[in-house]
Parts: sequence; C-alpha cells; structure tokens
Amino acid sequence: DDESETPAELLGFSAVAVNSEDTITVPEGYSYQVLIPWGTPIMGGIAAFARDNTGADQAGQIGSHHDGMHFYGIDGSSVDGLLVLNHEYVEPRLMHQSAVGLSLNSSALPTFAGTRPADEVRKELNAHGVSVVRVIKGSDNQWKVQYDVLNRRITGLTPMEIQGPVRGTDFVKTLYSPNGTMTRGTLNNCGNGYTPWNTYMAAEENWAGYFTNKGDNPREHARYGVGSGTGRYAWELAEGGADEFVRFDASIKGADATEDYRNEPVCFGWMVEIDPFDPDSNPKKRTAMGRFGHEGVVFAPAEEGKPVVCYSGDDSRFEYIYKFVTADNYSAATASGDLLDEGTLYVAKFNDDGSGEWLPLVYGQNGLDETNGFTSQADVLVNTRLAADFMGATPMDRPEWGAVDPANGDVYFILTNNSNRSEANLNEANPRAANQHGHIIRWSETDGEQAATTFAWDIFLFGGDSGESGVDNNIGYDPNGDKLTADNILSSPDGLWIDPDSRVWIQMDSGWDDPFGNCAMLVADPKTGTLKRFLVGPIDQEITGITMSPDQKTLFINVQHPGEGTSAADFAAGNFSSNWPDNTAGAYPRSATVVVWKDDGGVVGS
Ligand code: FEO
Ligand code: CA
Ligand code: CA
Ligand code: CA
Repeated sequence: DDESETPAELLGFSAVAVNSEDTITVPEGYSYQVLIPWGTPIMGGIAAFARDNTGADQAGQIGSHHDGMHFYGIDGSSVDGLLVLNHEYVEPRLMHQSAVGLSLNSSALPTFAGTRPADEVRKELNAHGVSVVRVIKGSDNQWKVQYDVLNRRITGLTPMEIQGPVRGTDFVKTLYSPNGTMTRGTLNNCGNGYTPWNTYMAAEENWAGYFTNKGDNPREHARYGVGSGTGRYAWELAEGGADEFVRFDASIKGADATEDYRNEPVCFGWMVEIDPFDPDSNPKKRTAMGRFGHEGVVFAPAEEGKPVVCYSGDDSRFEYIYKFVTADNYSAATASGDLLDEGTLYVAKFNDDGSGEWLPLVYGQNGLDETNGFTSQADVLVNTRLAADFMGATPMDRPEWGAVDPANGDVYFILTNNSNRSEANLNEANPRAANQHGHIIRWSETDGEQAATTFAWDIFLFGGDSGESGVDNNIGYDPNGDKLTADNILSSPDGLWIDPDSRVWIQMDSGWDDPFGNCAMLVADPKTGTLKRFLVGPIDQEITGITMSPDQKTLFINVQHPGEGTSAADFAAGNFSSNWPDNTAGAYPRSATVVVWKDDGGVVGS
C-alpha cells in the first residue's frame, strides 16, 4: 500500500435527511419495495394474513418481528434465492381479539392471573423462529415469493437436536427428551450468522423472560434472569395444559428433571444452526459456542488449513463479547457444522492501554474447576456468564451485532447503549457514563491471525447528536473523530454488516425521536472515515437484519415493530402510531422486509 495515496471514496450517494414520516426514505437514484410482511403465506393451501388466522395458519406464514437475515443465491444466483430470516418476538395485541393487556411493552406480566386460549399460544409460538422462503426477481424488477419445497417455518415448537459438549448431560434431560439429546423450538432469534459452509445461524437472545420459576432458582436460571413472575406471554398458563405450552413453568415439581420442566430454560440461550437447503434436517443447538443472550454470530473469512473463528455478543448491560475457535481446521471440501461441536470459547478483556486478551473458558484451566464450583466443560458452557465473570472479562455496554472486514480481518462490534454505566465503572472501552447513544469498538487480532489470543482495539465511532444542543455525553463522533453532522447523527446502533467492498452498514434501534428522527441505516467508509445516512424507516420501528445478493445489486433489510410506541388507549381505539406497510387508515402495522436497489443497476451504496 502507498500510504500517500488518498483512498477512493466508497460511498457514492447523497445522505438522506433525518425525518419522522411513516414511510421508507432512500437516497436519490434508489428505489425500494416491501416484501414478506408478517402473515404472508409461503406455501400452498395457507390462508392469507388476517387477524383471525389460527395457530396452524401461522405455521405456514411468515412470522412476526423480522430480524437477522441472509440471502442464499440458488447456485450463486443474484435474482433467485432463499431468504432466511429470524422472527424475534410477537405483539399479541395485534394477533388476537382477546389478548387485552398482553403487550410486548410489559415484557413480564407479574400480575396476570388468567389463562391463555391454547390456540393463541400456538399462534404466538409459530410466529417466532425462522422463515426459509424462496424469492425471485421478476422482469418487472419486483421480487416475489415462490412456493417451493425448500420453503419452511422453524418455530418455537420445531424439534431440534442438542449438539456439542452439553448433549446428553443431566443439564438438558427433560420430560420431552429424557436422554438430553433433543428439545423443542427456538425463541427470541435476534441477530443471525452465516457459516463458511453455507448454513444459517439463529441466535437466542432474550429467552429467559419466556420462562417462570416460582421456587428454588438454580444458578443456570438466576444468572440469566429467569424470574418468578408470569412468563413474557404467559404461555405456561395455556388452557388444556399441553406439555409443549406449559413447559415454560420451570419450577421444580417432580422427583427429577424428567418429571418436570426445570431444564427447559437450559435448552435455550444457544446458537442454532439451520441448513436451509435440507428441509428435512433438524436444527442443531451448538452448545460449544456457549449459553448466554446471543445477539448473533459473525464468522471471520475461513482460511484453508486454519481453525474457523467466530464472534458473538451477549446483549445485556455489563455482559461480554465472546470468540469461538474450532479445534479442527477448515477445509472447503469437507467443512460442516460438526466443526462447531469442538473448540475453545473465549471471552474478551479490553485493557485500558488499547491491548486486549481472549480468556479461555475451559474446564480445569485457570480455576474453572470444582474449587470454584465448575464440574465439567458442560457446566462451564451452561453457565457461560458465570465462567466469564470468574475469569475477569470486561463488562460492556450491551454488545449487539459484530462484523469482520473481509479486507483485513478487523472486527467491529456494536455497543448499543447502557443507561446504567456510572462514572464509577467507566473504562477506556466503555468510556461514557449513562451511555445514551452507544459506540462501535474495533480490534485487530495479533499478527493478523484470527485465532490469536491477544488483540489491539480502538473506538471506531460514538453515536450522538451534532453537539449543537446537548452536553458532551450526547455528542457523536465519526470514524475520523469529527463531530457528527446532520448527514450522520445516530443513536443506539444495533445491526452491523460489512459488505465485500468493506462498506460498514450500521442500523439503528433507538427509542429517541428528536433530533434523530425515525430509526435509520447509515454507511461508513473505514478508509476515508466518511459516514452517511442511507435509509430512514417508518414510525416506532427499528431497522435490523441486512443481506445482499451476491452481485451486491439488491439489498434486503428488515423493519421491525413499526407502531410499537402506540399507547394502550390509542391501541384500544385502533389508532396505531404507524400503519406501515399497508398505509391505509387503521391498518395494522406489520414487520416486513424492504428490498432496495439502485435505479442504474449498480452496486448498492456505490
Ligand atoms: Fe434483539 Fe439485542 O437486540
Ligand atoms: Ca438487535
Ligand atoms: Ca429491539
Ligand atoms: Ca437493540
């Protein structure tokens, strides 16, 4: 590299202004369409979206609350592929006539004393999980759903295999699977990942709140926040008492774990691997990668003859960033998900001098043994947070998505915000008290070896306003260290992806309005330090999930929870704060995918 050469600017579009409109805004010269809103049938014989859809209907429709997503071109196609996407959670008020008082905004229902109609519970479980749907670009430039044998819904009820060191141990023996090899469903799938062998990874993030434990709360429940109040959607109160619903009460009731649901919460908190090209395959929970509030997972580019390396954040205040290094080396000819069943899980320590260390979470090493209450590698993995606490990892400001720059292996991680960060517990990696607007940390592994156990880090940017109205803590800074401007103020970054040309795509999940407007997506050029707003979403939503066709001419993103800010009174009156995407008076707001392209047929962002 000739350092004196000014790098060419990657971002060729004009920044979109902040706005608070109930629509999608893209740069001049770009167009978009809405695809697969919640309730879209993805197979024949399934009812169209309607409020009175049944639980069975929902099992053949796109789920709710779209999140992480990846496009798998069929035979490398950029106009015909499988779109695979997560459905993080649901809004019962939009799903049934009777679910009064059940709002996602009351994430636990400590006083709920009623029962839940069984088919409402079934519908909510089926609106969670993952969709696999074939989409094809027509000659009219519009993408459409194609019914296909590969189309599939994976839900909160789908049988899954438990793989890796926890498989078959006492920790995961249940009434459903007395030998501890299977479980049912995946929940709260937030960010995602995609493997070098072309499979999909769904992360289990805020799963703990779905459960209740009204009695003795073991550490594998307590450290993750399983509470004694009613579960998030009161599924444990399903009428009829079907085992697949009432398992969300994890209180000890029987003589051992195969007689009650005490271990159901231990079957969640994992990364789940799905092969979208094998519709008969069971999803696999990869326990070697640890159990926590996985936001997502990002794989570094795989190198022949070296271990596979991936990174995953635990999105909760003062939780950690992890790295997993496979025991076996990568070979393009033979690589499969089995690689993920054996390896070393590390947790990050960010030193104030800009250096960092990966601390191994290995049973029998560094005190992770009986002396300190750890009895096996399965125990270390089930209690990943406790093992990381013990090792002295750095508590972060809510780690969300990560991304790896394919050009140089640099790793970027979002720290979305942390209202509880006090002056007393600041450190250089988390340097703002009551961190309102978040930041992005970046590191490079020692000697460019992705599997290295040390690294060097810096802060890529700080979210915030332009500095014209707020106190210091509110001001944002771009990758050059310059104050943010009208073109790029942002708050609470969450989704992150780096495209093959090294554009850094940053998605907002912010509860702020003024001065940031609706949640937006921005793009940074890490070489020039330019940062520009690319897209603004509708009212009361977040932008999340991002993928492109292999030719980078089609961008897919998700709009999640439009209208979420609707008050109870407005809701009762049918006045939603957003009517997106149908945009007719009184229309239910629905999460959906948005497809964006450049009118001249060029690379998106160029
Ligand atoms: Fe589901 Fe951390 O956002
Ligand atoms: Ca997120
Ligand atoms: Ca969110
Ligand atoms: Ca978030």
